[in-house]
Amino acid sequence: MAAPGGICLTAQCHALVQASCEVEPMGSHVLKGFAGATALYALTGVSQAALAQRFPDAGRAKFRGRAHEINLLHDAWAKTDRRDAQVVGICAPPGAGKSRLCHEFAQWCNRHEVPVCEVRAQLYGHATPLQPILELLRVFFFAITGGDDAETARGRIARRLADTSTSDDLALVQEFLGVATPGDKPSSLSPKSRHDRLISLVREQIRHLSAAPAVVVIEDIHWLDEASEEFVSALVEAVAGTRTMLVLNYRSSYQVPWGQAAHFREVLLPELSRKDSHALVGDLMGPLASLEEVRTLVVQRSAGNPFFAEELVRSLRENGVLVGDGSVRGGLQAAERALPATV
Ligand SMILES: Nc1ncnc2c1ncn2[C@@H]1O[C@H](COP(=O)(O)OP(=O)(O)OP(=O)(O)O)[C@@H](O)[C@H]1O
Ligand SMILES: [Mg+2]
Repeated sequence: MAAPGGICLTAQCHALVQASCEVEPMGSHVLKGFAGATALYALTGVSQAALAQRFPDAGRAKFRGRAHEINLLHDAWAKTDRRDAQVVGICAPPGAGKSRLCHEFAQWCNRHEVPVCEVRAQLYGHATPLQPILELLRVFFFAITGGDDAETARGRIARRLADTSTSDDLALVQEFLGVATPGDKPSSLSPKSRHDRLISLVREQIRHLSAAPAVVVIEDIHWLDEASEEFVSALVEAVAGTRTMLVLNYRSSYQVPWGQAAHFREVLLPELSRKDSHALVGDLMGPLASLEEVRTLVVQRSAGNPFFAEELVRSLRENGVLVGDGSVRGGLQAAERALPATV
């Protein structure tokens, strides 16, 4: 039922995730294997509120370990600040803590008054190509905010491009960002020429911005659509010798096409150490000594993956084994029964 590359949800699934998702109703359909008609919804986006609460357990659980990776990011920033911009790729399996590491680094940048721009590729990115690039252009290059109307956005783009670009470029960017001047003829360039010109403009803008320090974080680039990947490759190349640092994260299945670039460094994020996992699970469960056996069990089962640790503790709570801020009902056996074999 879903459009190519799209995702649709059944009513039951929608009920579980509605706080986090934006959908459009698709009406009721008869599906193979289901009795009667099923209401379906097309997934159109992830709600901003959900993105703002990306780390719901962060209030309870401190950021643990990762001193080596944080130091490496700080060093990369120090080089970038000296006009030797670095590109850091953080690579690990799902749930290992790539986003959290980037978030902690972004917080550090905020505290040091380094502007940070964060964009993300989405799971359904192939259905809506170039979304992360549109976002990057809006936020990073043209400082367009959600509250800006089309005219304000056009003004921001015009001011930005005033010294470096022609009126054709201006019209092209405004059209690309969906704020073309009403009544203007659409660009006569072929889609391929338009794409190539936009990539060149991104390169030029990065060079033009080169005096101002900044960090751009692009999340989940394993989900980039092909056209966006071309832009990101251009960005990687263009930042060399500027003061714009790029931090990219991706799952281990993804191979970056710019692996050989001299200013690129890949960081393979390892599992959390046993000590750090133990501390994390303690934060999540509560510190009481009576929990120690169960805590050790969760540490073992989570195998150094902080997302697994969170999910395991959540399932102990949901099953009524872990109660309040620290008692275990039914002891170790009950916990063993309550924990899922896999997360
Ligand atoms: N070092 C850490 N200390 C404490 N909690 C952590 C740490 N790393 C990650 N977490 C928590 O574990 C959960 C999963 O982390 P995160 O979302 O960063 O994983 P990820 O590698 O980005 O996964 P995905 O591939 O699905 O995007 C989050 O709730 C995060 O707050
Ligand atoms: Mg992530």
